[in-house]
Formats: sequence, structure tokens, C-alpha cells
Amino acid sequence: MMSVRSPLLVDSDDAFAVKCGRKAEGMLIPLTVLALSGSLRRASLNTAMLTMAAGYAPPAMSVTMFAGMGDLPLFNPDLESREPWQVARLRTSIADADALLIASPEYAHGVSGVMKNALDWMVASGVLMGKPVALWNASPRASHAIAALRETLAVMAARLVDVAGLELLIEHDSVGRPLPNPDEAAMRRALLAIKADLCQQGRSSSS
Ligand SMILES: Cc1cc2nc3c(=O)[nH]c(=O)nc-3n(C[C@H](O)[C@H](O)[C@H](O)COP(=O)(O)O)c2cc1C
Repeated sequence: MMSVRSPLLVDSDDAFAVKCGRKAEGMLIPLTVLALSGSLRRASLNTAMLTMAAGYAPPAMSVTMFAGMGDLPLFNPDLESREPWQVARLRTSIADADALLIASPEYAHGVSGVMKNALDWMVASGVLMGKPVALWNASPRASHAIAALRETLAVMAARLVDVAGLELLIEHDSVGRPLPNPDEAAMRRALLAIKADLCQQGRSSSS
């Protein structure tokens, strides 16, 4: 019997198949999504939202939190010629990731200094050029930070994946523990949208 296979299910080791988590030379290579939180707060709702994502990632896709945001020195162009190791770690983590998931608090109608500092360090390397980025927000009343992030990422030539954007009101209990995910289905849909976008892009670039 002849089987009809979707283009997304073709077994091959081309770039598209690899990026879509297909088997390449016997090894499953998952899509990798790097999560960046703009908050250093222990009970951060943005970090909690991104941490939750790891548990909802579709098959053959992983979501990993970048743990070194608080280690980055303050941006200083004088230091760029001898890149601090903390900056190199962020740059290589971004370069290695198929996509980024970013969530940042809004402080005084702007993006957090933590997030802006990290992005400023990345400008000269161009590592964000063409990188798919989904913006998440754990506090839907905050709109200025998202707008500022969009502007910064656009000028860095990142590729914003708007269909994978997500706003959820994440809350915590009286001792700072995040309450359960208020909309698991929405989070799953957003993560699937990242995967679909990456696979679609891979298909375009390999065709
Ligand atoms: C100094 C400061 C300024 C803030 N400014 C704003 C603001 O302009 N707009 C807003 O919606 N929330 C503002 N907030 C609230 C934070 O964005 C909110 O508490 C958010 O949950 C913090 O993110 P985190 O939980 O990930 O740490 C501010 C909080 C602080 C501490």
C-alpha cells in the first residue's frame, strides 16, 4: 500500500528535517528554545512563566532557561574587544538555540535593565540577526516593556514570531510560590506555534 507522507514527516537528514526534530543519522536532534528572563527576582513571575514552558514543550523540542542573566557585567563598549566570559556564554547559548523565548518585567514603563543590558551586549555580534524570538509576558497590564522589546529586537534584526507570543496573568501565593499555570492550553499552543514556525522556515529554506 502506498503511504502518503506529509512534507513535515519526511525522513531525511537535510537541514529542515534536522530542525524539525527528525532523526538524522540515527540521532534525534530536538529543536532548542532558549528562555531569557529579564527578572532576577527569586519569585519572578516572568521566570516562573518561562520555567513552566519546559513542561509543555511539544515532542522533539526543549525549552531551557539561560541561568546567567545576573552574571553579565554592565554593558561597556570598551570591553567588547575582550569579551567577558559571561557575555560569551550568552552569545554562544543564543547562537546554538533555534529560537528564543523572552519574558521581561516592565519597570517605569520600560524594559528591565537586566534584559536591556543583555541585549546591548549582543548587538555587535549580530547573533540575533534572523533569530526567531517569541515574546511572552507574565503581567498583561504591562505593555510598554513589550513595545520597547519589539523595537530593540527589530533593530537587531531578530525575527519576531508573533503567532507564538503569549500574555498570561501569572500570580503567586502569599509566600511567593507561583500559582498553577492559568492557561495550559494557551501555553501549549504558543510553544507549538514556535515549532511550526521553525519547521515552516526550515521547509522554505531547504526547498
Ligand atoms: C520599580 C518598579 C517599577 C515598576 N513599573 C511598572 C510599570 O511601569 N508598569 C507595570 O505594569 N508594572 C510595573 N511594575 C510591576 C512589575 O512589572 C511586576 O511586579 C512584575 O511582575 C515584575 O516582574 P517579575 O515578577 O518577573 O519580577 C514595577 C515594579 C517595580 C518594582
